Amino acid sequence: MKLISTYLTLFAATASAIWPLPSSYEHGDQVLWIEQSVKVTYNGAEQSQLKSYGHGGNDGNHTGSASQRIVTNAIQRTRDTIFEKGFVPWKFNPRFSSFEPDSSGDKALVHTIALKQNGSDSEDILKAMTGDVDESYTLTLSEDGEATIIAASSIGLAHGLTTFTQLFYKHTAGGAYTNLAPVTITDAPLFPWRGLNVDTSRTFKPLADMYRTIDALAYSKFNRLHWHITDSQAWPLEIPSMPDLAGKGAYAAFQIYSPEDVRAVQEYGALLGVQVVLEIDQPGHTASIWHSRPELIAAFEQLPNWDTYAAEPPSGTLKLNSSAVDDFLEALFDDLLPRLKPLAAYFHLGGDEVNKNSYNLDDTVRSNESAVLQPLMQAFMDRNMAQVTGAGFVPLVWEEMLLDWNLTLPANTIVQSWQSDANVAAVAAQGHRVLGGNYNYWYLDCGSGQWLDFRPGASSEQFWPYADYCSPRHNWRVMYSYDPLAGVPANATHLVLGGETHIWSEQTDAVNLDRMVWPRACAAAEVLWSGAKDAEGRNRSQIEASPRLSDMRERLVARGVMAEPVQMPFCTMNGTQCAL
Ligand SMILES: *[C@@H]1O[C@H](CO)[C@@H](O)[C@H](O)[C@H]1NC(C)=O
Ligand SMILES: *[C@@H]1O[C@H](CO)[C@@H](O)[C@H](O)[C@H]1NC(C)=O
Ligand SMILES: *[C@@H]1O[C@H](CO)[C@@H](O)[C@H](O)[C@H]1NC(C)=O
Ligand SMILES: *[C@@H]1O[C@H](CO)[C@@H](O)[C@H](O)[C@H]1NC(C)=O
Ligand SMILES: *[C@@H]1O[C@H](CO)[C@@H](O)[C@H](O)[C@H]1NC(C)=O
Ligand SMILES: *[C@@H]1O[C@H](CO)[C@@H](O)[C@H](O)[C@H]1NC(C)=O
Ligand SMILES: *[C@@H]1O[C@H](CO)[C@@H](O)[C@H](O)[C@H]1NC(C)=O
Ligand SMILES: *[C@@H]1O[C@H](CO)[C@@H](O)[C@H](O)[C@H]1NC(C)=O
Repeated sequence: MKLISTYLTLFAATASAIWPLPSSYEHGDQVLWIEQSVKVTYNGAEQSQLKSYGHGGNDGNHTGSASQRIVTNAIQRTRDTIFEKGFVPWKFNPRFSSFEPDSSGDKALVHTIALKQNGSDSEDILKAMTGDVDESYTLTLSEDGEATIIAASSIGLAHGLTTFTQLFYKHTAGGAYTNLAPVTITDAPLFPWRGLNVDTSRTFKPLADMYRTIDALAYSKFNRLHWHITDSQAWPLEIPSMPDLAGKGAYAAFQIYSPEDVRAVQEYGALLGVQVVLEIDQPGHTASIWHSRPELIAAFEQLPNWDTYAAEPPSGTLKLNSSAVDDFLEALFDDLLPRLKPLAAYFHLGGDEVNKNSYNLDDTVRSNESAVLQPLMQAFMDRNMAQVTGAGFVPLVWEEMLLDWNLTLPANTIVQSWQSDANVAAVAAQGHRVLGGNYNYWYLDCGSGQWLDFRPGASSEQFWPYADYCSPRHNWRVMYSYDPLAGVPANATHLVLGGETHIWSEQTDAVNLDRMVWPRACAAAEVLWSGAKDAEGRNRSQIEASPRLSDMRERLVARGVMAEPVQMPFCTMNGTQCAL
């Protein structure tokens, strides 16, 4: 038996393909097969074999405790991943080599998977606050086929099972095996907030795409889905007390999320440890409200000079000094927040890219001067904050509310930065908790080119070759080089909760969602789980990460996520030739 630490196996591509990288990982090279009949226990109790698994919501046991449901769901997914969604690692071995273990004769088997939870889940495990869930786990797999996963929480056990599936490969003759036994892993995340922000206003995402995205998030150990559900272009969120809001503001009747849909997405995520954080962006990014309530919106659809009034068309913002707007927001949140509450601890109040000029056209203000607008914005957000915190949520806002508008925010507000490393540091310097996600690194939409059409003539030439504002495309290596802690002084790093990568959706709909997000988002997942630096404090190595990410990509594809290739087989078949 030989024990190999990951550090020494850089070029043995099939040997260590866990993504994100665990805190410590040792393995051997013995083969063990696994069969569907493997005994699975949870704190000693044998778990029934649940083979049904499909989309439209988790098929988990809806009658057990939250902890039991999380574990049952994780076991089901483990079986499904290993036996139905495995992959044959031919791309990671020299061409025409006999890389697979002999499948004839007696097979050494994994006999048991013992799940041991040595702590108790908090009552709020399905809507936990940052820091409340211990996501760590240890995983051992002995040469004689005993697997043990120990964690303080059910979510830790689920993470351990996710890692467990990444030890196995499909065999061309049928069956599944690992060639890594014995295995010893200890693992824990660096950051407690690891998210993807999905925009479903500019283009709608059907529920199946939301579920598949959550599958991939959980498989990469993300724990937040930030759902930017409304914006100026469309309001796809049904609010039962205001049916015309989506009834007129969505793109089409079939592109509306019902309360049951939102609940189903929340629950789907919660059982996988992925909390859904809903954002109603405002006061900007709200022109879609005009379709049902034109009296609430200023500067709607200014043409042709929309760019004087908004970052993108259509212009239009909630009026800033209007009791009718206050009443609307009060009624909106009174309807929405209690429904979100059972599965959400956080609510995002938006606040990005507010355009001051649009208040020149706001009949309740008629000014674009900061001195006039700032107190109104403070009052506007004070009302929001009182309602959201009163309903028991921790609020989030975009960084502009703090850094550009100088608002005083409740002390527990989490501020989401997107513009620069300096802004992450500036938020922390004010004592607020902060999320990173610098658009120069972690905006997945960048580099697709302009979606605006340019009139013939000068402007057209000025914009040639029509690159977008954040071009070029941020490839996984750029994403992998981002550190949410960059530029943050040591005495403030505890305020950086983690970060999010973002898929703004002007040019991303259900057809290209997967390839726009995956596997690049995995690079962010590893930075957030394992850290941007290795144990010696050095930037992580692309050469080490690349074959693992290629392996992860194959696993995502096998799960039905149409992730892009990382490298051609020529590179992954021979670990060193594609390095420069
Ligand atoms: C669901 O969980 C409950 C409580 O743990 C258990 O009694 C029941 O047998 C389970 N049902 C299935 C189908 O596993
Ligand atoms: C739970 O098990 C882990 C892994 O063995 C260990 O590090 C941790 O201290 C244990 N926690 C408790 C409360 O026993
Ligand atoms: C805001 O509205 C109030 C009540 O209509 C009005 O008295 C006040 O002048 C307005 N403030 C500004 C800055 O326009
Ligand atoms: C404020 O509005 C005035 C009047 O429309 C305009 O001339 C000025 O440029 C605006 N200020 C800014 C900073 O956009
Ligand atoms: C916020 O403060 C900065 C620095 O004092 C100032 O330049 C800016 O105009 C202020 N913003 C508003 C909206 O008042
Ligand atoms: C490590 O990464 C950071 C951020 O990308 C970069 O500024 C720095 O130069 C890198 N350090 C080394 C030694 O490559
Ligand atoms: C960190 O230390 C600096 C310099 O002593 C101080 O100004 C700053 O307030 C501290 N920041 C935090 C978040 O404690
Ligand atoms: C890579 O290719 C070289 C030359 O063909 C060969 O000597 C080497 O063993 C290969 N390495 C691996 C890991 O396949």
